[in-house]
Amino acid sequence: MRAAVLAAALFCALGVLAVAQGQQKITVTFPPPLVQFKNGPNLGVAQANCLVCHGADYIYTQPPLTRAQWTAEVNKMRAAYKAQIADDDVPKIVDYLLSQNGKP
Ligand code: HEC
Repeated sequence: MRAAVLAAALFCALGVLAVAQGQQKITVTFPPPLVQFKNGPNLGVAQANCLVCHGADYIYTQPPLTRAQWTAEVNKMRAAYKAQIADDDVPKIVDYLLSQNGKP
């Protein structure tokens, strides 16, 4: 038993040595970070409600939307995807969205 443990330890040590001598270079590329919200009115409310399921890039990659369209979008998140957003927060979030990617 003891010999087996020793043999295993030696085997592992040799393995580590072999890798170290090989000087293998391993490159790991991480995906780019999710786009965060930029500063604007009610930033905190938007951050708390709209970054739970996806990144801020979802907002910035849309074409500019009107107030009615952004309101519909927020309501779609609630109805279709069950986002837990309080009624009072909807107009605050829409104000924020309009400041970021809105059209009159
Ligand atoms: C409960 C999870 C959840 C929350 C919270 C959430 N979304 Fe989404 N959202 C989704 C899902 C799921 C999709 C569709 C994903 C896909 O198609 O890749 C989506 C897609 C979108 C899109 C792309 C267009 C579309 O209609 O599919 C926009 C814009 C968007 N969300 C905005 C928002 C905004 C603004 C908020 C905050 C009010 C929000 N989301 C909060 C789940 C959520």
